[in-house]
Amino acid sequence: MTIAIPQNEIRLEDYRPTDFVLLTVDLAFDLDPQRTIVTSTIAMARREGVDREAPLTLDGDELEFVSLKINGVDAEPHAVTPDRLEIRGLPATGEFTLEIVTAIAPASNTKLMGLYSTNGVYCTQCEAEGFRRITYFLDRPDALAVYTTTIRADAKAAPLLLSNGNPVDSGVLGDGRHFVAWNDPHPKPSYLFALVAGDLGVVEDDFTTASGRKVKLAIYVEHGKEERAAYAMDALKRSMRWDEERFGREYDLDIFMIVAVSDFNMGAMENKGLNVFNDKYVLADPDTATDADYANIEAIIAHEYFHNWTGNRITCRDWFQLCLKEGLTVYRDHEFSADMRSRAVKRIAEVRLLKAHQFPEDNGPLAHPVRPRKYSEINNFYTATVYEKGSEVVRMIETLLGRDDFKKGMDLYFERHDGDAATIEDFVACFAEVSGKNLDQFFLWYEQAGTPEITVASQYEPSTQTLRLELEQSIPPTPGQSSKQPMHIPLRVGLFESNGEPASPRAIEGIEADGDVLNLRERTHTVRITGVKSRPAISVNRSFSAPVNVRQQQSDRELAQLARIETDLFSRWQALNDLAMRHLVSATQKAESGEAASANRELTDCLCAVLADRTLEPAFRAHAITLPGETDIAREIGNDINPDAIHEAREALVAQIASHGRDLFEEIAAETRPAGDYSPDAASAGDRALYLACMSHLAVASGDPSGPLSLYRSADNMTLLSGALAMLAHRFPRSPEAEEALADFEARYRDNPLVIDKWLTVQATIPGADALSRVKTLMDKPHFQLSNPNRVRSLIGTYASGNPTGFNRADGAGYDFLAGIVIDLDPLNPQVAARLLTAMRSWRSLEAARREKALDTLRKIARVEKLSTDVRDIVDRMIG
Ligand code: PHE
Ligand code: ZN
Repeated sequence: MTIAIPQNEIRLEDYRPTDFVLLTVDLAFDLDPQRTIVTSTIAMARREGVDREAPLTLDGDELEFVSLKINGVDAEPHAVTPDRLEIRGLPATGEFTLEIVTAIAPASNTKLMGLYSTNGVYCTQCEAEGFRRITYFLDRPDALAVYTTTIRADAKAAPLLLSNGNPVDSGVLGDGRHFVAWNDPHPKPSYLFALVAGDLGVVEDDFTTASGRKVKLAIYVEHGKEERAAYAMDALKRSMRWDEERFGREYDLDIFMIVAVSDFNMGAMENKGLNVFNDKYVLADPDTATDADYANIEAIIAHEYFHNWTGNRITCRDWFQLCLKEGLTVYRDHEFSADMRSRAVKRIAEVRLLKAHQFPEDNGPLAHPVRPRKYSEINNFYTATVYEKGSEVVRMIETLLGRDDFKKGMDLYFERHDGDAATIEDFVACFAEVSGKNLDQFFLWYEQAGTPEITVASQYEPSTQTLRLELEQSIPPTPGQSSKQPMHIPLRVGLFESNGEPASPRAIEGIEADGDVLNLRERTHTVRITGVKSRPAISVNRSFSAPVNVRQQQSDRELAQLARIETDLFSRWQALNDLAMRHLVSATQKAESGEAASANRELTDCLCAVLADRTLEPAFRAHAITLPGETDIAREIGNDINPDAIHEAREALVAQIASHGRDLFEEIAAETRPAGDYSPDAASAGDRALYLACMSHLAVASGDPSGPLSLYRSADNMTLLSGALAMLAHRFPRSPEAEEALADFEARYRDNPLVIDKWLTVQATIPGADALSRVKTLMDKPHFQLSNPNRVRSLIGTYASGNPTGFNRADGAGYDFLAGIVIDLDPLNPQVAARLLTAMRSWRSLEAARREKALDTLRKIARVEKLSTDVRDIVDRMIG
């Protein structure tokens, strides 16, 4: 019998401002691994109009209370626990100071929230609610203050003492200790506080802002790794320039610092003036980082830097508004990468990611609106929906307004809300105001969960040269939202006449059209488009103007035609992808009934035509010939999923394409074979991507591992080396060639954990039921540590979410294994444990036997008595 433990649910409608306002915060840290003493001196005042008797309640989390002073006089709290400090009898009016002393133990902080130590370096992580693990505080994003931080530590162990803002004082203390004091003049919430102390190497540079101020830049890494920070530094300078040019945003302190640490729960953190990064997103050189790593570093460096304005200068009123900073900042980093690289290729990669992560989330038990209205654990809302769909919503605002009005809206937002803790309403109001457009219905994008589905039916009348489109939108029910309102959906539509030319319609009736954007507002629209001279090919949701699923009756021929003639490159990819998808779905059905997959000339011809088209950039061609992944196919099928059948079907299609296009693959591989020094730029990366895709198809066509093995042996950069390793391990598991490469790779990189992560991932994602025993064996290797999030994600995370056949074993052993890890990890690091468990979020779409096994496993986890709020929240919502 399970007893539901009531969750402490937080609701948006319960938001109230604080009773007390912060003025300044002075923090002093006496650093010690076992017992750090934190003295927090807060100047504050009762907010006007608030009850004179109202107590002050401060948040804490696993804190040891040491002492309290009010206005310099020793005082007793009314109540104190590790989680809460309540003070009564505070002055009714005027300013007063509190001095609160707490003790914490960074060395035994395995949750990596608050102050912890990682490889001998002290480091903090405060978003979302980690500051309360340092001292009792109003730990909420609308409590802003100016911070001064003094750090005292052993000078040998921690020569480097960093915090937010500008350094203002430093000196030597007795006992071999020293101190540095920092002041951050910009008021900020506690989640943006940071401290780093230790012995690190540094790369320095500077940047002159548009208005001529010189800013010092510093990236801190472990000694000996300085050279691997060069690309990050370059990306930082490009980000700073771009934000000035595109959004008029200048940096606002004298120094900007980045610290790379090896134990980190997330990707990186935008602490004011002192970003802390997972070292995976800082360190790169050709020998250890892939093209994808370089692209991620560029994007994440930009993302965190852009937060300086969208997140820090303008922060969130409460955590329900998380997408105010995240969705917007993802949009900004997407635009940055699009400008740095190829816009169309970037868009394809974004949409692939959105569909792979956000669409399943939106279609399962963890679905939630971009702006949720309730949560019981905020850590679980750093999701693809808040980030990626949140970014798509901002992009739709740009589509609706056009680039100029969008820019005006952003300018107004920065001007009006600088220094504020703002809401989504504040943000959207800026765009409504500058454009005069009513965005009330559009606002539903923030409030309604679920991926809208648009069905498109068309009818062409040659006699009147009229195209009739029936458009219908529906939004599936999601947890807590059974019926939905129609949304305002900007849908870009292109028409191509039979000669391949874009149509130029005379009139569009029945819907508000703006250029090629149709504004869907009703459940159904009947659209009449006149002046269409021949039956057109219809391209819907061009450049992915809205994050929706489109259902449209189209023949293979129409899709193939679009793949050839669309002028929007993204949509050419989309057409190819749709064409491939329908063949993959029907091949899966055949595999399930034991039939062999039939040949698909339309598809293979179409893919080969794109592959052969030298006018198209290589990165695009690489995407084009990469079939949708197994998880994508599962999403398309929707229910009663049998991952083995999907795998079999996809492999069969890959084999067909490989043998049909063999000569062409040879030819293109010869053309793109890398020569000369490695450069991480987008064009070179595109060549390598296409080359690897060709090599992989050739390996399939020949059935011979010697091609990938010689590629492995001759590779002079990590992109080719890890690409070859994956081909060997995935296509020829247990072959001597694969064993040779795996052993060589391990020996070569045993001292570089970030590279060993690639080795773990490659093996964790080898398809088939054997994957589980491989993962278990790898866990026993010294490389693996349950306490390090990167290791856990590389091995167990990728096994559970990137290996559909290996994880979804028919006997349920994959699920039970994951449950065991989640339960073991939960007391150590609940955030990472909860995230691992989300790998099972699509369990309801599995076929019956697996579904039952998955449910058993989830119930088993739910029965564990002492679960963290993080894992409890996920498991409860998943069982629903
Ligand atoms: N705010 C960080 C980002 O998106 C992510 C993060 C959240 C990091 C919570 C740590 C903890 O840039
Ligand atoms: Zn962010």
